[in-house]
Amino acid sequence: MSDVAELGRRAEQMIAQLAAISAEPGRLVRLYLTPEHRRAADLVAGWMRAAGMAVSEDALGTVRGRWDGGDAGPRKRLLIGSHLDTVLDAGKYDGPLGVVAGILAVDHIMRSGKALGFGIDVLAFGDEEGSRFPATLATSAGCAGAFDTATLRLADGDGVTLAEALRRYGKDVDAIPSAAYRPQDVAAFVEVHIEQGPALEARGVPLGVVTGIVGQSRLRVAVIGEAGHAGTVAMTYRRDALAGAAELVLLVERIALDSGGTLVGTVGRIAAQPGAVNIIPGRVDFTVDLRAMDDDVRRDAVAQLQAQAWRMVETRGLQVEFETFHEESAAHCAPTLRDALGAAISALGYPRVDLPSGAGHDAQMMAKLCPAAMLFVRCKGGISHNPAEYASPDDMGLAIAALIRFVENFGPLAQ
Ligand code: HGY
Ligand code: MN
Ligand code: MN
Repeated sequence: MSDVAELGRRAEQMIAQLAAISAEPGRLVRLYLTPEHRRAADLVAGWMRAAGMAVSEDALGTVRGRWDGGDAGPRKRLLIGSHLDTVLDAGKYDGPLGVVAGILAVDHIMRSGKALGFGIDVLAFGDEEGSRFPATLATSAGCAGAFDTATLRLADGDGVTLAEALRRYGKDVDAIPSAAYRPQDVAAFVEVHIEQGPALEARGVPLGVVTGIVGQSRLRVAVIGEAGHAGTVAMTYRRDALAGAAELVLLVERIALDSGGTLVGTVGRIAAQPGAVNIIPGRVDFTVDLRAMDDDVRRDAVAQLQAQAWRMVETRGLQVEFETFHEESAAHCAPTLRDALGAAISALGYPRVDLPSGAGHDAQMMAKLCPAAMLFVRCKGGISHNPAEYASPDDMGLAIAALIRFVENFGPLAQ
């Protein structure tokens, strides 16, 4: 029987092997449907096979390891998974921990000889971050039966559409509907993930039960003014797109600060054109990421941002254009699954801590298919989306031990 230290050591080793698969030598970049995704998927498929699972890959590239739970018979399945893709210059735990945890949990239970009375699929999703195409959760959407075919027309920075990238990856877009699970076949989805925040570390506990996952709105904003000579245009005659955009960036921050902690807002990317030292910027493009547990709060914030922006830029003789290119509703984790995860944590001798997720996850897409839950793992300093991201082998071992207990006691919930 694997003990916590052994589970943690194995997890650390597998995550290190995945972290070595990157498009760039000096930092971790592994994008959806790239050669790096292919290599990571093949590595994970090998681990699944070695653990005794039957392996398949669906039309959107999700790798699926299937175990019948130790006894035959048509029953519901428990889905366990997370994502293999990363942000740019990523940490190595965000995503892979949830895939590795599922594989090690199945491996452990299979070797124990227990018959579960339900099946398990371990899922390695290919696109949670939306780092390549301007959409996120595309692959879990396929499993959840919520894939939007308009996503196929989205293009990456090189102009390659998702449809073309899938074709090059060897996939048939006509087969995407067959990737969807039937709701009646699935009992639940559970995801193990680093917290990506400081709460567990601050509370001095290794594991947490997620209450819900924030809803997200991602917008592109264009501020249009007039390019001009930096030396000859009087200040009062300028239509400076960057000065206007700067006001809007602070407006995003102000709306979030005034929300009483119910909303967060981020401008993550900005570009001024033509971008020369001696030219008044004629156009600025930036992104806005707004998140809240309450979808009304988030949608009101989008409306407030637009209404105030239009007024603000008018006084500067500017135009502003908004495009919402991604929107995902908040997801609330299933109370019965939360209690089962809490019981597994308590059985390990740790207090149950419940907390919300400010990050988006595949679990929020899978919650459209079935009851969903997440087990958070403490990460050092709450750092994530950063190569300094770190989860200790002991904490990972505890997470996998808790997942094993959750699965071993899941039978009554699988009916
Ligand atoms: O943006 C997010 O919350 C997630 O890491 N994709
Ligand atoms: Mn993630
Ligand atoms: Mn992430």
